Amino acid sequence: MPRTVVITGASRGLGLASATLLYQRGWRVVAAMRSMEAGLERLRAATGAPDGDPRLVPVRLDLEDEESVVAAAAAIAAAVGAPDTVVHNAGIAVAGCSEELPTQVWQSMLATHAFGPVALTRELLPAMRATGTGRIVVVSSMIGQHGFPAAAPYSAAKSALERWAEALAGEISPFGLGVTVLITGTFDTEIITDAIGDYRDFDGPYARQNRSIDQRGRSAIRFAAPPERFARGLARALEVTAPFARIPVGRDARMMLLACRLLPARALHQVTRLAMGLPGHGTIPTPSPPPPTPPMKENTFHG
Ligand SMILES: NC(=O)c1ccc[n+]([C@@H]2O[C@H](COP(=O)([O-])OP(=O)(O)OC[C@H]3O[C@@H](n4cnc5c(N)ncnc54)[C@H](OP(=O)(O)O)[C@@H]3O)[C@@H](O)[C@H]2O)c1
Repeated sequence: MPRTVVITGASRGLGLASATLLYQRGWRVVAAMRSMEAGLERLRAATGAPDGDPRLVPVRLDLEDEESVVAAAAAIAAAVGAPDTVVHNAGIAVAGCSEELPTQVWQSMLATHAFGPVALTRELLPAMRATGTGRIVVVSSMIGQHGFPAAAPYSAAKSALERWAEALAGEISPFGLGVTVLITGTFDTEIITDAIGDYRDFDGPYARQNRSIDQRGRSAIRFAAPPERFARGLARALEVTAPFARIPVGRDARMMLLACRLLPARALHQVTRLAMGLPGHGTIPTPSPPPPTPPMKENTFHG
């Protein structure tokens, strides 16, 4: 029997590249997708899998919709029973300083990166536990290692995902299951360009921060690696059998992990600030207070 992997967000980007590579390497791939029709067309084109191929199982999944998560878990169980591996890959990004972001952005971000994966795992675990083997893999980000300005909900959600994954490893390790956290560097997908919720105001009080981060971000994109490289990193990571593993994928992710390990918090703050070209502490002048309003003339009208 081929090993079975569930990959969320398999419709494009890193999920599509990973699903394709693992299929080509003989895995049975459960491709969990929100945009099922477009995603399946891309997957079939990339893998050459025929319609109805038992090694490519499409499942509809919207992580922001609890009913969809439960239905997806039931569809996975019906199609493959207990998967060997679940890769929580689906994700969204956002740009904007905290003051600029509506609460709904935080809700979407946490639903996609934390509540959804947690709920899907909860549904799949009983069958996986019963087999005494299996792995939960979460796709985190180097931006989840440290709070990144203008990406606070993303940093916070990835951090939440990682802390959950660490806790989960302790809980399920006694049953023979394992957890892997992938610290992902910069890869050339739509999440770093088009598929981003952009709330930045380039004329508002955070204009200097937004402009600078935008400029640095655009330069960083030029060095983004192809998604296929991530897929090869994931495939290597899937061979790890330790109860818990944290694995960087990409050179920039490795450097970020090292910096977080070596630098004290104050230094890390300054390094991040300099790397993103942000103004120093207290260098943006506070707006001058409005001129005092002249005292009201005494009302001399007595009717
Ligand atoms: N690319 C990078 O540089 C980078 C760096 C660090 C971490 N990562 C992480 O890698 C993962 C994959 O990102 P990517 O670069 O491949 O981004 P991407 O090209 O934008 O793909 C994102 C995928 O997630 C799916 N998705 C989004 N919201 C969903 C939801 N509510 N329910 C189900 N699926 C949903 C999308 O489906 P639709 O097609 O329906 O929109 C799409 O398949 C993410 O977790 C991301 O945070 C990426």
